[in-house]
Order: sequence, then structure tokens, then C-alpha cells
Amino acid sequence: MFALTLFLLFCAPLYVQATGAWIDYPADGTATMTHYTIPDGFIAACGCTGASTVRRPHLAPPFLTFFVAGCQGYPTAAMSQMAYGSSTAFGPACGKCFNLTLLNTYTSDPPFFPDVVKSIVIKVTDLCPLSEAGWCSGTQTKKNPGGQYINFDMAFPSKAIPDDFFPSNASYYGYTDFGVWNVSYQTVPCLPNWAGAKNKAALGSVTNLGNESVCCPANPTGNPNDTCPSYSDDNALPYVVPLSVMNLLSQSQTRYHDECSSYAYDTHRHPCRRLFICLFIQSLTV
Ligand SMILES: *[C@@H]1O[C@H](CO)[C@@H](O)[C@H](O)[C@H]1NC(C)=O
Ligand SMILES: *[C@@H]1O[C@H](CO)[C@@H](O)[C@H](O)[C@H]1NC(C)=O
Ligand SMILES: *[C@@H]1O[C@H](CO)[C@@H](O)[C@H](O)[C@H]1NC(C)=O
Ligand SMILES: *[C@@H]1O[C@H](CO)[C@@H](O)[C@H](O)[C@H]1NC(C)=O
Ligand SMILES: *[C@@H]1O[C@H](CO)[C@@H](O)[C@H](O)[C@H]1NC(C)=O
Repeated sequence: MFALTLFLLFCAPLYVQATGAWIDYPADGTATMTHYTIPDGFIAACGCTGASTVRRPHLAPPFLTFFVAGCQGYPTAAMSQMAYGSSTAFGPACGKCFNLTLLNTYTSDPPFFPDVVKSIVIKVTDLCPLSEAGWCSGTQTKKNPGGQYINFDMAFPSKAIPDDFFPSNASYYGYTDFGVWNVSYQTVPCLPNWAGAKNKAALGSVTNLGNESVCCPANPTGNPNDTCPSYSDDNALPYVVPLSVMNLLSQSQTRYHDECSSYAYDTHRHPCRRLFICLFIQSLTV
């Protein structure tokens, strides 16, 4: 009942349709990178395993607790929806690994060009919902505010990533967190490049790809036998944009770190919401 109330409060009335089609992006290119916080043990859109510490495991139905094991102990990211390939749940990007290299910032004045090369291999475990003007607003025909079609929203801070991962110049800028970076990305095999490659539980949550609510292959290659289909295409769901959004995560923590809060920060509105919250609440209602 409680969960149902939550669902009705936060999820039910918020979707509108958008138009577009998935982005067929090259294996290597440039993108924007933001970062966001997710609670320990959270199972995001792909359904990849969570961290080993689940805050309230008794709330999760058994099929979920089964999958809770370890992805968040390693670098993960959400990918912007139209590149991710689904508007809900899993999509073809789930489980894919990308080597992201920081190039420069540009929302700062002046732009910042680090004098060190910083790279990180992330695994995609989450969907960054399409928004009208935020960092995840890129479509086949429209770039995001950083002039890119793709955004990676990395889970950070994370015990898997050093706190000083992002270069900065505090004495000049007066702050250390630039929020948004211009990055280059390379598609890389998760094995052996991803830090979690040796942890079987972290690598993936499903061995067979079927009509389940989760799909997180260990090492997707693009072949249909090891790569997730689009959940929304398979279930004839529209490209949805969550409106009115405010996530349940702490605003102070997420403020301007992620797609949703970056946008909220810019516009003083709260126009986006993480789909996974709805999915999670939905899973509690079944
Ligand atoms: C990631 O990119 C950096 C910078 O180009 C490179 O030095 C590094 O070897 C790459 N890592 C992988 C696993 O490809
Ligand atoms: C910070 O930026 C200023 C101005 O560009 C520069 O003179 C200084 O060397 C930089 N410091 C570091 C640590 O990068
Ligand atoms: C991002 O980096 C690419 C490659 O260096 C560059 O062409 C592009 O102008 C940069 N974009 C921004 C917004 O700085
Ligand atoms: C997927 O198919 C390819 C070729 O069709 C095959 O080489 C590969 O072993 C298959 N992978 C799995 C996990 O079945
Ligand atoms: C997946 O399962 C749902 C519910 O059983 C069904 O409505 C849907 O058509 C199925 N989709 C596919 C692609 O089989």
C-alpha cells in the first residue's frame, strides 16, 4: 500500500511523449560527461547488480535481492537515453564498457584544460532520461548544450574512483567541481578493461537474454546473443520524458552533479526524474 502510494505520487502522471529514434553512434567519439549520486546498493535501469551493501534488503522482492551483489563497487555510468536505446528499463547500451578521457571543461569561465590525461573505463548500468534541454537531451538531430549527442553520467563519488579523479585548479577557479566535462570515448571490451572484470557478480546479472525486467550482460559485443534488446521497443512503449521531476535522492548531494540536477540548477525547476525510482517502486508494488 505504501509502495503503491509512492508510485502514484511520484511516477504515474509524469510522462509525455517525445519523438525521435535511437542514436547509432560510432565506436569512438566525443561526448559530455556529468556525474550523479546513487544510493549504495541501488539497482539502476539495466538491473545490474547493486553494491554488496543494500540499505533495506527486506524491502526488495527476492528476485531483486538475488541480483544485489556488486556493480557499484566499480566505475559505472548512466548513458543518455537516445544513445542508450530504450526509454525504460534495459537497452542495448546496458553492460557496455567505454574508456572515457577528460578533455576540457567549458561551462567554467575560462574553459579548463587539465595538464594531466585522466581516463576511466566505465560500465553502463543506467539510463539518463531524455530531457528537453539538459545534458541527456541529445537526439539523432539535436545536440545537448555541450554540442554533443551523447552524455555519460558517471556515478561519483564512488568507492571505485579516487575523490581527486577530476583535475581542478581551486586557487584560480575557487571551486574544484566543474560538473560537466567534454570527453572522448572509446568502446572497449569489458573483459579485461573494466575494473570489475574479475568479479563475476559485478559483471552481469543475467546469463540468458529474454523477456525479463533486467538485462546486464558481462561483455556485450553488439551481437544479439550477448547484447540487450530495447525494452521500450519490445514492449511498444513510447519515447517518454519524465516531467516534474525531482528525484528522491538528496538534492544537496546531487545538486548540479547530474543531468537532472544540472538542469534544475540552471533553471530553478526540477524537470526530470530518474526512471529507476519508478521502476524500483513499481517492483515493490508487484
Ligand atoms: C583509455 O584512453 C587513454 C587515453 O587515450 C589511454 O591511455 C588508455 O590506454 C585507454 N585505456 C583503455 C583500457 O583502452
Ligand atoms: C591555475 O590557473 C592559473 C591561471 O591560469 C595558473 O597560473 C596556475 O598555474 C594554475 N594552477 C594549477 C595548479 O594548475
Ligand atoms: C570537445 O573536444 C573536442 C575534441 O577536442 C572539440 O572539438 C570540441 O570543440 C570540444 N567541445 C567543447 C564544448 O569544448
Ligand atoms: C554469439 O554468436 C556468435 C556468432 O554468431 C558466437 O561466436 C558466440 O560464441 C555467441 N556467444 C554466445 C554467448 O553465445
Ligand atoms: C514481455 O512480457 C510481457 C508481459 O508478459 C508481454 O506483454 C510482452 O509482449 C513481452 N514482450 C516480448 C518482446 O516478448
